[in-house]
This record gives sequence, structure tokens and C-alpha cells, in this order.
Amino acid sequence: MSSRDGEAELLVASSDATFARLGADVIRGIWDDCPGGATILATGWTPIPVFRELAARHTRGELSTPQCPIVQLDEYVGVEDSDPRSLYAWLDREFLTPLEIDASSVIRLRGTTADSEEECSRFEAAVAAVGGLHLAVLGLGPNGHVGFNEPPSGPTARTRVVPLSPESMASNARYWNGAEVPVEGITAGLDLLLAADVVVLLVAGAHKREILRRSVAGPESPEVPASYLRRVSRLIIVADDDAAAGLTPEEIGSRHQPRI
Ligand code: GLP
Repeated sequence: MSSRDGEAELLVASSDATFARLGADVIRGIWDDCPGGATILATGWTPIPVFRELAARHTRGELSTPQCPIVQLDEYVGVEDSDPRSLYAWLDREFLTPLEIDASSVIRLRGTTADSEEECSRFEAAVAAVGGLHLAVLGLGPNGHVGFNEPPSGPTARTRVVPLSPESMASNARYWNGAEVPVEGITAGLDLLLAADVVVLLVAGAHKREILRRSVAGPESPEVPASYLRRVSRLIIVADDDAAAGLTPEEIGSRHQPRI
């Protein structure tokens, strides 16, 4: 893997428990190093064990409530917080409430405003006002999307409304027990995510193996938006064995630091 500006690291977990622990250790370490740095977080299934590990540490008194602004990564257009499909409600349930984070410290990206362009501008200005992103905790879409930066998305893609691809709609359908998947998302732009000081990319499962390989070892391409994550100052990939299988040190490059 080449990282244009900084370092990149691949941490491979040999079990689900290790994946949760590694992810939590990495995030906690970054918070400790920069307690006030804004943190943007993905929803989706992959981060859940990591969020639950952080929550368990908080419950045991081993981790205090993070003192940083929290930033919403994406949302479905037209979905209210009270809708069971709300991604904000998901973040609240899995992360904010368990860690006792006050909703007032969250920079929202709402999918229900009358003027979505104004919402995107307000969101970008609010993130800039807290000094930009320090940490981005991201998942990897089955088609290489990050947030809802669907292919094709280049490194200058702004915060915007995006039609969801058939792959993303099929993948998101897993979450909602047959309920209709909204056809549009609103997402933090790839440009904003690439400017984060640190990106933690969480990847689990054999079904993510090929897209992870294309993201870290293939050419940069708008067809694989995650391929641009190699540009961030510090990229830490936390993957399980199934997702990382077959990635060779040559493909990953000299900064590969395997951990089991
Ligand atoms: C979704 C979300 C992303 C998420 C990705 C992977 O569509 N918009 O933020 O990271 O797909 O989801 P999962 O972790 O469930 O595979």
C-alpha cells in the first residue's frame, strides 16, 4: 500500500473478539492523543462490535465519555429521526447513548431539510468551525463506497445528495427486514474525509475481500472511492482474517505492520 503523505497500517484480527478489541484500542488511542479532535463515524454492521466494545469499557469505568465533537457521516434522504431506518437513530442507539454523549455535541447531516444544498454547506461550515476532522471511522461498501460516496466519486467530491446504487440498496436492505430502502443518501464528501488526520477503516467478512484488495492494492479510481483513502495522512485498516486473506506484503507495501 502506498500512502502519499503519511503512514498506513493494516491490523488483522484473528477472531470477532479481537476485531472488536483492536478497533476499540485504536480509536481510544487516537482520542487519548487528541481529546478534542472531531470524530466522524459510520453506521452499518461492521462497526457495531467495536462500538459495543467501547460501550462496555465505558460501562466498566475504563473509558470516559469522549470530549470531542461527533460528526454524522451520512443519512437517507427523506428519513426522519423517528423512522426505524434513520442512520442517526442507529448512531444514537449504538454509540451516542451507550457512551453518554450529549446530542448537542453532534454535528448533524439531515436528510429531511427543505434545501439540501444549504444543509450540505451548513454541515461543511460546522465541521470547519471545529477545526475539521481529526478521526474518521469508516466502513467499506461492497462497491468501494465510503459513507454514501458512491462510484463514481473522486477525491474532490463534496458533501452532497447522491442516488444510491443498486449494490448499496441491496446491501442496505439487509438492515431493514424487507422495509423499502430509500433511493437517495446525503453524505459527507470524500474531500472532507480525505482531510481527516487519521482514518480508521473497519472491514470484516469474506464478501469484502475483493473490494478491500482493490481499495488498497488496485489503482486509484473514482470507480472505487475507497482507493483514495491511501492519500490520508494516517490510514489504519482494521480487518478480520476473512477480509484480509490473500493480501500480500508486496501489495500492501513497506508500511504493512501485521498484528494478530
Ligand atoms: C453503508 C453505509 C456506509 C457503511 C457501508 C458498509 O451503505 N452508507 O457508511 O460503512 O455501507 O456497511 P456494512 O458495514 O454494513 O457492510
